Amino acid sequence: MQLFLDSTDVAAIKDLAATGLVDGITTNPTLIAKSGRPMAKVIAEICAAVEGPVSAEVTAQDTAGMLDEGRKLATIAPNVVIKVPLTRDGLIACREFAHEGISTNVTLCFSAAQALLAAKAGAAYISPFIGRLDDVGADGMDLIVEIRAIYDNYDFDTEILAASIRTPTHVTNAAIAGADCATIPPDVFNDLFKHPLTERGLDQFMKDWAKTGQSIL
Ligand code: E4P
Repeated sequence: MQLFLDSTDVAAIKDLAATGLVDGITTNPTLIAKSGRPMAKVIAEICAAVEGPVSAEVTAQDTAGMLDEGRKLATIAPNVVIKVPLTRDGLIACREFAHEGISTNVTLCFSAAQALLAAKAGAAYISPFIGRLDDVGADGMDLIVEIRAIYDNYDFDTEILAASIRTPTHVTNAAIAGADCATIPPDVFNDLFKHPLTERGLDQFMKDWAKTGQSIL
């Protein structure tokens, strides 16, 4: 499973990229606003810090505007992936980007029917929003299961990028459900390393080791 960071915090991205465990980055207009910096600069810095795909989202609502913005964003770096919303206009733009060889991430997916359309439009990634579905009383993970079944039935190449991840359990359940990737906020990513029994076990090992008075080196 590919693990992406959902962030525009360049320091946090560099810190986690140094582990070698980060396969890509996703951003959105809210995260760009949170950075307080010009979008082009933030995306360029992230693309320089990470070799994998970096999603940069268009903000136009019409196909022509999305195409103009997406083509411009795609010039920032070769690893930019253009993020378009799952709307009628967004999918028409997605189809055109696919013809032009520009990779897309179709975002704000909340149903399997939407995911089917995105795959037919040639999306490289589909982003089902798990946490936001949970927020409204649905089970976001069911959507991953449904999309996996549909994509496997028809051999669609579109990768399922589980998004709106809030907990480590979301990550593991998305992996069990067969998501190709998960995009994870840095704080949740850091939580993936941790387990209280690991900490307790290590603490005990170190106490016992100290009693031996030995040194490995
Ligand atoms: C995905 O690409 C989105 O940027 C993100 O996962 C949205 O997450 P949120 O629902 O926590 O805002």
